[in-house]
Amino acid sequence: MKSSITMAWVIIVLVLGGVGGSSFAGSKVFDVDHDFYPYYPSLIKWNKSNANFTSPDVCGGCHRKQYEEWTGSVHSLALQEPVYQGELSKAYKAVGHGIARQCEGCHSAAGMVTGEIKKPGIAGLSPMALAGVSCDICHSISGTTHWQTPSHEPENGSFILTPGIDSADGAKLIKRGPFKPSDNCGMGFHDCVESSLHLQADLCASCHQVYHFEDHFPLESTYLEWKHGAYAQKEILCQDCHMVDFATFMRAADDFRKPQRAEYRHNFNGANYLLSYLASGAAKKAGDDKKAAILNEGYEMAIKRLQAAADMDLSPIYRNGKLTEIKVRIKNVRAGHNLPTSLTNVRQMWLELTAKDEKGNVLMNSGSIDAQGHLVENTRMLNSDGMGKDFHFAIDPWAVTSFSRHDTIPPRGYKDVYYGINAPQGISTILIEAKLRYRQADQGVAEALLGAVSESINLKEIYGLTKVPTLPIVDMVTKQASFNALK
Ligand code: HEC
Ligand code: HEC
Ligand code: HEC
Ligand code: HEC
Ligand code: HEC
Repeated sequence: MKSSITMAWVIIVLVLGGVGGSSFAGSKVFDVDHDFYPYYPSLIKWNKSNANFTSPDVCGGCHRKQYEEWTGSVHSLALQEPVYQGELSKAYKAVGHGIARQCEGCHSAAGMVTGEIKKPGIAGLSPMALAGVSCDICHSISGTTHWQTPSHEPENGSFILTPGIDSADGAKLIKRGPFKPSDNCGMGFHDCVESSLHLQADLCASCHQVYHFEDHFPLESTYLEWKHGAYAQKEILCQDCHMVDFATFMRAADDFRKPQRAEYRHNFNGANYLLSYLASGAAKKAGDDKKAAILNEGYEMAIKRLQAAADMDLSPIYRNGKLTEIKVRIKNVRAGHNLPTSLTNVRQMWLELTAKDEKGNVLMNSGSIDAQGHLVENTRMLNSDGMGKDFHFAIDPWAVTSFSRHDTIPPRGYKDVYYGINAPQGISTILIEAKLRYRQADQGVAEALLGAVSESINLKEIYGLTKVPTLPIVDMVTKQASFNALK
């Protein structure tokens, strides 16, 4: 009985789908309404009025604490940072500015919608465009535009920017936040509107879910990984791990405990220790010791966060009384999304495993780095390989239209990796050391990107870089064990 009802539904859905679907037959994945999405492939909308965008230093005049916290985040660097600028230059050359607008929509939304950003580089840009993902992007978001996309899911900047409105008394700024407006909220500078969107992951989602501009392939899926994982079900949001200090993040991740309202911070701390490190050095070089110190806190916290994200177990597997394999179980214990996430085809997370006999002779090593900074062939990677059309390796976001390998660990999930071991005769104990390691990119990829940066960014003057230094590696987890060679 039950199954026949289900069957009836299947038929109805198929019939309706057939009728509705026919109008899409042969059409692109996304039949774009260019009037609705004027900045396509970015899905931003802008309610233009005489109320302009305000740069963060102005907001910081009254909101000192939020301003200082934000200056330590990579949101504040999203436009100016050299890795983005290198890739933007390549995008601009490969696919033109019409498409590169998609990048700018997320990395500097105000600079994109106003038409101020016309090419890669930072020359002549206003403080608002330079500020990247700044106060007046998030606090001007008045709604979303993702319902009109094929997936109905947030993506590619699907938000509406309304920095203010034209009123009888002239332009009026309106800022949206988590609270019911207090009396005199904004002190005449801006009005306040209570916004439930700011208390949802949807606020972050439209930028943290990136699709290919044409083939609509999900290049970065942090939002959907989160949404389909354990934390979303318990209402632990992006904000609950990334807008708090380290101890509060640990509590949210371990006990699914939501932070108190007073515990939120504007540090948006993630995993990008490299960028925070470079920016901290730049601030120091420019004589801004306070900013350098805040960025350095971001650097240290990002490393701690990576080291808290995973755990690992080692166990032996015996066959016919002989040790034949080592099993490494890697657990994603505290990342709210897959581990690694976002740019999984650029970020590198891998296992290094060394087996030694009791005298210290190396029996096996996998996952080391060669003299050029590349991982050796047999390395067990946990990330993705990008692929263009025709099964060719690709890395640039306009070229990657699928993954040939996508191997990441879901939230509160694990992955088992096996290493074959062949102990020589006469050895009684085998010592194993396993390390889970992470870096932002392959050495060669980083060199190519920094080499493509616009001339308006002088890497030597700003960062003191004359050549690309060896990219630092973070050891996320290290485990040692010794096993009997014979059972
Ligand atoms: C939908 C929003 C969105 C779009 C569109 C987008 N990005 Fe990003 N980009 C992000 C987010 C979010 C991150 C951070 C991910 C992370 O750190 O893992 C990021 C990170 C990056 C990074 C890494 C920065 C670093 O320091 O490691 C580069 C490079 C980059 N983007 C370049 C581009 C280029 C070029 C384009 C256009 C072809 C583009 N992005 C389009 C949201 C976007
Ligand atoms: C990436 C988005 C984002 C950016 C950038 C951002 N904010 Fe916020 N802001 C939020 C969210 C989300 C909340 C709500 C946090 C919570 O749950 O209490 C918030 C809360 C606030 C509040 C309410 C009090 C508090 O701290 O919770 C103020 C004031 C504020 N932001 C000002 C600023 C200023 C000033 C800047 C720039 C220096 C800024 N914000 C940048 C997302 C953002
Ligand atoms: C002249 C001082 C002043 C300036 C400049 C200012 N604010 Fe405010 N803002 C306030 C006051 C006062 C409040 C209410 C008390 C509080 O939340 O700190 C407030 C509240 C807020 C809130 C919380 C609103 C809510 O209901 O949740 C946000 C968000 C906010 N401001 C964002 C901004 C942003 C973004 C800028 C820059 C575009 C900015 N403010 C510039 C004074 C200012
Ligand atoms: C307007 C687009 C936009 C919005 C909205 C946005 N982000 Fe981001 N976010 C970015 C971009 C772009 C980057 C990468 C900047 C770079 O590395 O160049 C980033 C980086 C980050 C990082 C650092 C990643 C790392 O590798 O360290 C964290 C954490 C983060 N965002 C959290 C959030 C949270 C939480 C929210 C919602 C409250 C949010 N973001 C909203 C665009 C956005
Ligand atoms: C339970 C805590 C938790 C939640 C919830 C969470 N994250 Fe994370 N996030 C982490 C941890 C831990 C890391 C560091 C390990 C890693 O890179 O995955 C991280 C890393 C990141 C990074 C940097 C990735 C990289 O390699 O550069 C970004 C971007 C990010 N998170 C965005 C988000 C967004 C957007 C959401 C909401 C959709 C979110 N996070 C929800 C804990 C969390």
